Amino acid sequence: MKIISSIDELRDQLRGQLRTAFVPTMGNLHEGHLSLMRLARKHGDPVVASIFVNRLQFGPNEDFDKYPRTFQADVEKLEKEGVYVLFAPTEKDLYPEPQEYRVRPPDDLGNILEGEFRPGFFVGVTTVVLKLFSCVQPRVAVFGKKDYQQLMIVRNMAKQFALPTEIIAADTYRAEDGLALSSRNGYLSEAERAEAPALYQLLNEVAGEVRAGHLDVFELERHAMAKLAARGWKPDYISIRKRADLQPPSAGDIAKGEALVVVAAAKLGATRLIDNLEI
Ligand code: PAF
Repeated sequence: MKIISSIDELRDQLRGQLRTAFVPTMGNLHEGHLSLMRLARKHGDPVVASIFVNRLQFGPNEDFDKYPRTFQADVEKLEKEGVYVLFAPTEKDLYPEPQEYRVRPPDDLGNILEGEFRPGFFVGVTTVVLKLFSCVQPRVAVFGKKDYQQLMIVRNMAKQFALPTEIIAADTYRAEDGLALSSRNGYLSEAERAEAPALYQLLNEVAGEVRAGHLDVFELERHAMAKLAARGWKPDYISIRKRADLQPPSAGDIAKGEALVVVAAAKLGATRLIDNLEI
C-alpha cells in the first residue's frame, strides 16, 4: 500500500484510473470501516482510503484534539484489506491556506437533527468531502448508513454538483449486542459500554410501535426520550423521519406507508452516540 500525503503525488499515482473506489475516514479504524473497504472493493478498483481528522467539522467545544489517532494500527489494517493507496494529508497539505470557499448544504437538511446540535458540522463535512473527491477523483465512494444524515447530504451534493462519483451506502456494522461501531465508543467506560446498546434497543422498540400502527409520532418520540433519560442518558433527539428527505412525516404519510427512519443522538456520560434504524 502506498501512503501519500501530497495532493500532487496522489494525482500522479492515480492518473488514468477510471474505476477508483474511495472510502474517506478520520482514522481509528474498526471493523465498521473495514467493512466499507470490502464494499468498495466490490464496486471498483483500485480501492483508495483516506485518513484525515477534519478540523472544519468539529465545533469549538468538541473533541478535535482528543479524537483518537492510531495511524500505525490503521495502516496495518488497511494493508490487510488490500487498499492500494492511503491518502493521509496533513492539515497543511489539504488546507495550505484558510479554506474560505465552503459548501453549504440547504438549511432544511443541513440545520436539522445533527446540524441543529452541531452547528457548522455539515458545512465542514461537505467541504472536506468535495475536496477529497477532487483529489482522488473516484468513480464510487462509500459512506456508512450509521451517519444517515451525512450520507444523504453527501449524496445530494454529488447529485446537485453533477459529480462523477456514485455514492454507495453501507449498512451499519454492529457489535453482537447491537451497538453500532464508532470510533467514539472508545471513550466509553466499562459500565457505559454495557449500557450503550440500550440506544439501539430503543430504536427497535420505536420502530416496532410504528410497524404496529402507532401513528402518534410525537408521543412515541417523547416517550423514547423519557425512557432514555430515565436510564441516565442525555438525549439530543430521537426522531421519526421520512427517509426521502429527513422531514417529519404527517399521520397521512405514515398511513400511506411512506418509508421512514428513526434517528437518534444522545450523550452517555461524556460520550455522544448516534444511531438510526430504517423502519
Ligand atoms: O464520517 C466521517 O468519518 C467523516 O465525516 C468524513 C466523511 C471522513 C469526512 O471527514
